[in-house]
Amino acid sequence: MTRERIKKETIISLLKESSGYVSGAKMASQLGVTRAAVWKTMVLLKKDGYLIESSPAKGYLLVESPDLCIADLKKNIAATKKIGHELFFYDSVPSTNMVAMELASQGCPDGTVVISDAQTAGKGRLGRSWSSPPGKNLYMSIVLRPGISPRDATALTLLAAVACASVLRRFASIPVSIKWPNDLIVGHRKMGGILTEIKADLDRINYAIVGIGININLTAEEMPQEIKAIATSIFIETGGHFSRSELAGALILNFDKWYRLLLTKGKKVITNEWLTMSSTIGKRIRVTAMNQTFEGVAEGIDDEGLLIVKLHEGTYRKVSAGDITMVRTNS
Ligand code: BTN
Repeated sequence: MTRERIKKETIISLLKESSGYVSGAKMASQLGVTRAAVWKTMVLLKKDGYLIESSPAKGYLLVESPDLCIADLKKNIAATKKIGHELFFYDSVPSTNMVAMELASQGCPDGTVVISDAQTAGKGRLGRSWSSPPGKNLYMSIVLRPGISPRDATALTLLAAVACASVLRRFASIPVSIKWPNDLIVGHRKMGGILTEIKADLDRINYAIVGIGININLTAEEMPQEIKAIATSIFIETGGHFSRSELAGALILNFDKWYRLLLTKGKKVITNEWLTMSSTIGKRIRVTAMNQTFEGVAEGIDDEGLLIVKLHEGTYRKVSAGDITMVRTNS
């Protein structure tokens, strides 16, 4: 963590712990810096969206925090067993998955979380980009070291989808369902997505990065033109603004619960829950995968999370990656 970020986080914690003004001298001595340095950090915090009143006699008073506040988030996730004990927060990075990958290669612990207010090169599935403007959405990556085989890696994606969909249903009362493999869908529009990347030997995952993007406070006008027809946000669905710290906290707590279940009870628990939340199973679908398109009925997922599609002639085909669309039937 940079020196500037340590100063910011310490000052925010001191201001939040106090019910009134905190003197510049007290903060300066805690940080081992001058009062002028404290003042400079206050200017930066105001730029970050903190509303801070200052009085020459009394010091500084925190009036309002931005909706993505690291101190609030840390408090919200204090009870987790594994996820978020190490938490990295950035204003802007190319991609939280890339940062998490780098941290994982340097040996960061299982459950390390990376969050950024914005991404300049957000990555989506199948080489697509992920629109990541600042101040609006959640961009988060989690480093996992589950000690499972690469064949079981899909369980991590299914787990993330279950954790996200259940939190969105509870937190914002939105009827979110999961479209195979990992789209968080409301009606026919996408509210969020998950990108899992792994580093593995033949028989064992070294680490996996589960990247989660959820559109939260983005308005219809702010939605990029190219995804307007197919994407949505919590704000668009509910008309309400939501705190990103609270949503991220609830999501990390829920992810922690499902991750523990995966490690103690195995992937069947995850698959079963995924099936109850899926809007794909039982539907007639069109699959586009590996430059091929075919239609059939989505019958279920197998032990490895592959989609089982029943074709017209009664044979079955398994799909590991690709895009699906629902096919309207006239009956
Ligand atoms: C999809 O295409 O549905 C997956 C989108 C995943 C986006 C998230 S945002 C946080 C993390 N960092 C990235 O670059 N991508 C994932």
